[in-house]
This record gives sequence, C-alpha cells and structure tokens, in this order.
Amino acid sequence: MADPDNSPRSVDEDEQLDVTWLAGGWEPLLRHWIEQATARGVAEPGAMVLATVSLADGTPRPVARTVLCRGLSPEGVVFYTNFDSAKGAQLAAVPYAAVTFLWTPLGRQVHVRGAVQRVSAETTAAYWHARPRDSQLGAWASHQSQPIASRAELERELAQVIARFDDVDEIPVPPNWGGFLLRPDEVEFWQERHARLHNRIRVRITGDSSTIERLQP
Ligand SMILES: Cc1cc2nc3c(=O)[nH]c(=O)nc-3n(C[C@H](O)[C@H](O)[C@H](O)COP(=O)(O)O)c2cc1C
Repeated sequence: MADPDNSPRSVDEDEQLDVTWLAGGWEPLLRHWIEQATARGVAEPGAMVLATVSLADGTPRPVARTVLCRGLSPEGVVFYTNFDSAKGAQLAAVPYAAVTFLWTPLGRQVHVRGAVQRVSAETTAAYWHARPRDSQLGAWASHQSQPIASRAELERELAQVIARFDDVDEIPVPPNWGGFLLRPDEVEFWQERHARLHNRIRVRITGDSSTIERLQP
C-alpha cells in the first residue's frame, strides 16, 4: 500500500495551497475545489458533515450528520432539511453550525463555521420546485428524525401522500421544510502534503474584514 506521507494525491508540488489562493475570498476557492472533486468523479462532491449543538440533556453536546450543499455564494453555504428534524430543533435553539467537506481522492478538506439562518421562502420554493417529484413526496411523507414502528408504516405514509397529491401538478413546499444558510466567520482549507506537513489556510471573517493565516498542520 502506498504510504500517504510520500504520495500526495491531489496536486503537483508547484500547486501548493497558499494564503495567496484566498486573495479573492473563500467562496471562489471552495467552488473550484467542489468542481475539481466533481471532475475527479468523487461521489456526492457537495456532501458535507454538518455539526450542530444539542441542548436536549441539559449539557451541550455535538451532533453530526451529512447533508448536501445546495447553494454556494459569498454569503455562505445553503442546505435543505426538515425544520422539525433533530438538526432543525438544534439550529433553532443554537443557531451556529460547522460543516466539513472531505474529498479523499484529492487529499483535501474544507471547514466552514458560523451562524445559521433560514433562507427566504422564495429561495426554498425555487429549489423545491426543481426537485424530482419523488423527493417532494418523500419529504412530505417523512417526519424526519421521529421514531416509526416499521418500514411498512413509512410506505403507508408515502402511499397516503401520493394519494393526497394525485391531482396536484405542483406539490407545495411543506411548511416545515426549507433551507438554512450558514454564514461563515471561519473557513479553513486543508491540503494533504508529504511528511504530514499539510497545508492549512484559515480565513476569519469579521464584518467586512477578513484575516488569512497559515496554520500548522
Ligand atoms: C450523502 C448524504 C446526503 C444527505 N443529504 C441530506 C440533506 O441534504 N438534507 C437532509 O435533511 N438530510 C440529508 N441526509 C440525511 C442526514 O444525514 C440525516 O440522516 C437526516 O437529515 C436526519 O438528521 P437529524 O436527525 O440529525 O436531523 C443525507 C445523508 C447522506 C448520507
């Protein structure tokens, strides 16, 4: 097996991530890395592990799961979910989150951390209506994060939703479903290098100003 310390997978030696790469802001570089992961054939290049804080047991605890990045702009990253889900409740109570993208074949990861807010109903509607009908039906059928007795029970829920919207061309957005925008106050780009001397460049954003620093690996 190749020793990862001696076989950087991502880039040539002369393509070393540096603070200068962030001169145009964090968003163009994140977009570029997602595009490169897509070109490399990485499955779900927009997948990101989303960490939230649960206060359910009185003690703050981290909770992580994967969601898909469905919007990217200098404002932040957008994902869609059920507002009544565990993550939805956690974000309502503590509106801060962290996401991590990981593209193993490229030896890269990106962390985005900051405050979270709901996107507008118009933004959610535009995304919702572009989704496949099956996904829309599934979103209506699932009370995400709630226990259910069996798979059969879930299929019955779906059958009811299919019947309910049988005559409806444009299925409406569920009232408890929509997008969250994570507005970063910190973004870190990580690139695997030899001898574990990886490249880490962090951007910290406060208002209109930002600080770009190299971190030790
Ligand atoms: C690759 C991948 C992408 C996913 N994308 C989403 C997503 O965009 N939105 C979502 O609500 N759940 C998504 N899920 C499911 C979540 O990981 C999670 O199981 C679900 O949202 C319930 O999480 P919660 O109970 O912590 O709220 C995805 C799972 C995987 C493996």
